[in-house]
Amino acid sequence: MTQKNKEPWDQYSEYLHLDKLLSAQHRRSEDARKQGLEPSHDEMLFILFHQVYELWFKQILFEMDDIQGRFQDNIVNDRDLGPVINQLGRIVLILRTVVQQLDILETMNPQSFIDFREHLRSASGFQSWQFRLLEIKLGLRRDDRLKFNYHEYDEEMNTGHKATIRKAEASKSLYDQVDGWLSRTPFVEDGDYTFWASYRKAVNTMFDERLAFLKTQGLDAEQFATEETAIEKGRKKFESLFDEKAHAGMVNDGLWRMSWRGLQSALFISIYRDQPVLHMPYRMLSLLMDIDELLAKWRYAHALMVQRMMGLSMGSGGSSGYGYLMQTLEKHRIYDDLFALSTYLIPSRAMPELPERIKNAMGYSYNSPHRAA
Ligand code: HEM
Repeated sequence: MTQKNKEPWDQYSEYLHLDKLLSAQHRRSEDARKQGLEPSHDEMLFILFHQVYELWFKQILFEMDDIQGRFQDNIVNDRDLGPVINQLGRIVLILRTVVQQLDILETMNPQSFIDFREHLRSASGFQSWQFRLLEIKLGLRRDDRLKFNYHEYDEEMNTGHKATIRKAEASKSLYDQVDGWLSRTPFVEDGDYTFWASYRKAVNTMFDERLAFLKTQGLDAEQFATEETAIEKGRKKFESLFDEKAHAGMVNDGLWRMSWRGLQSALFISIYRDQPVLHMPYRMLSLLMDIDELLAKWRYAHALMVQRMMGLSMGSGGSSGYGYLMQTLEKHRIYDDLFALSTYLIPSRAMPELPERIKNAMGYSYNSPHRAA
């Protein structure tokens, strides 16, 4: 039969391969009928749920590939930022949806789960290679991962998936690409203007003014000494940010991951976000933080659900279960440098003004014939 002669109703099923999709939910507890046992009703929800997740992972990876493709060159075309922001926004909405969806799975009670759990054998979400790929593409590095029972996480993965994982690990992650892009931000150093020098001056003025204010407050010697020490601590904290060598040492100690230049630009963008050319970069950094936050929320919601379903039992993948998952919550954060930057914000009133020349360069001024009217 040619495509034309087909019933219109079949077109829908065919286009979506529904026959394949809808026949892929086999409850293993159904097989237990042969032994006269009732199949588990909730096993259907459990299977379907994981499949829905894998489909969403597939879509997220599809978006990631496109985003990463736009960042692969040393010069990112400005016109690519719009689609990148749209796609990151889409990933954020998908992640928000999958976090919320867990509520549906929690309508299954722990007894129902235990009734079919044996049918999972050693199957576990831990083996989701798409989830691993997503973590890697976003920027989670092998060395930063929690060791899984003292083994590499992909040790038992099949050869094909392992090759995919290793290839992704050997390529630049979105984190590296964004860091490189940030490091090339114009305006941070422009002629005799350097953001770092002007920010450092503003920070020191802020501390000097605070000290001068405290001197007028009639504090006794002990109170004054406590305040002075706090101010000195504050100065030191900022100095470690301004000093490239100190930053390198902190990278070595695992306290920072982002490059020195990348951090400067991220702070610059976040402070001067209302300058027209910085709107899009600021939006992009915010979306990356949203993604990191939503992944952490998912890890937390999933860990709580695991605790509700199986208490402190070990996972079918062989981990300690709830305990392991709670540790990943902290350890597997990726963009936490962007969050840590807020430590270095100062009140707006103390913020250095941008030179007029730089402000003009960052505006949307153009020679429109309508402007003069
Ligand atoms: C009743 C529901 C669920 C239970 C009891 C459960 C249990 C677990 C446990 C115990 C682990 C730790 C690894 C192990 O030892 O097995 C784990 C990991 C994982 N699960 Fe679930 N899970 C549930 C639902 C889901 C769903 C719906 C998904 C969606 C795909 C999912 C995805 C994952 C992923 C990706 C991991 C790896 C996390 C990591 O290593 O950071 N799980 N799960």
